[in-house]
Amino acid sequence: MSLLYKTGTAFLRRLPAETAHTTTVRLLRAGFGPQGPAIDRPELRTRIGGLDLPNPVGLAAGFDKNADVPDAMLASGFGFVECGTVTPRAQAGNARPRLFRLSEHDAVINRMGFNNDGLDPFARRLRARQDRPGIVGANLGANKDSPDRIADYVDGLTRLWGLCDYFTINISSPNTPGLRKLQGADEMDELLERIAQTRSGLAAGGPNYPVFLKVAPDLDEGAVPRVVEQVRTYALDAIIVSNTTIDRPDSIGARWKDEAGGLSGQPLFGKSTRLLGQFFDATEGRINLIGVGGVGSGAQAYAKIRAGAKAVQLYSALVFHGPQLVGEICEDLSARLAADGFATLEEAVGTG
Ligand SMILES: Cc1cc2nc3c(=O)[nH]c(=O)nc-3n(C[C@H](O)[C@H](O)[C@H](O)COP(=O)(O)O)c2cc1C
Repeated sequence: MSLLYKTGTAFLRRLPAETAHTTTVRLLRAGFGPQGPAIDRPELRTRIGGLDLPNPVGLAAGFDKNADVPDAMLASGFGFVECGTVTPRAQAGNARPRLFRLSEHDAVINRMGFNNDGLDPFARRLRARQDRPGIVGANLGANKDSPDRIADYVDGLTRLWGLCDYFTINISSPNTPGLRKLQGADEMDELLERIAQTRSGLAAGGPNYPVFLKVAPDLDEGAVPRVVEQVRTYALDAIIVSNTTIDRPDSIGARWKDEAGGLSGQPLFGKSTRLLGQFFDATEGRINLIGVGGVGSGAQAYAKIRAGAKAVQLYSALVFHGPQLVGEICEDLSARLAADGFATLEEAVGTG
């Protein structure tokens, strides 16, 4: 089977990037995906915001923007799957081409611009799978032309409440002009206050669901303690570090310097892991962190965990290595924990 997926991944990589992605999602919807159970290893179990993850490797947002294939992705072995970004109304996103594979760098540049079908179909699809096992989150965003972007997040939370296991407030995409301003102190206060109010209303007399905040890797180091303070004040459950970067490191060469969008994959690993470590120091280990950015091996997942992450997510590496990567990472993680004398993953979190 793994040969089949290796061949399939090689074939898809010959197609233009966005065509390959659309084809992959169609194939997965039609049932042509891995059919394994979730990888569940006692030593790799981890708990975030009350969610018990069978393993710490999650699918990052952006792969399944419309909640078309969360179960197929769970069947690839992921410990949790984040769908979205979804905005209240459907939107087309930016003009094509808007997705680029930097194969020689195991990297991706995208300026998709929150192309998605909107909340209605997203909610319908989540409702249709509601009784299935597996942890599925909804990554919420704002429409590009929204007159009140904060209201868009409130709308997403309200309309998807009860249909998924957690929410991510995404204020870090570089491809919606002005969105990242919500990471500023005053804007973030207003956003998180309205989220907290909405959440307490929705949770009254019923279940509460964890809410995570996803930040940009380009955040100033100086802003880290302030963001941590706000996350604590408004009782969010985790910080996802990080989204794609607008940086163009020298390592990717001149060819890609001027291609606008967010860079992800290997060139993002160092930067996002350093920021993760800064968040871990600022939280003193008291807020859950999810490490994202350039995870493509067990060693890299382990480095994020040692830097302070209780779980990781990945997207770009899937483009280059296919779905069998999840199992390989889990296997390697278990071996690394054992070699370093940790009985469980949680013991290794933040050990540097
Ligand atoms: C094509 C593409 C689309 C993405 N779309 C989203 C998105 O809609 N929402 C979001 O929060 N992150 C999005 N991301 C960012 C990823 O979730 C992740 O944070 C980033 O790619 C770093 O992880 P990686 O290096 O493993 O890809 C996208 C990434 C890629 C490559």
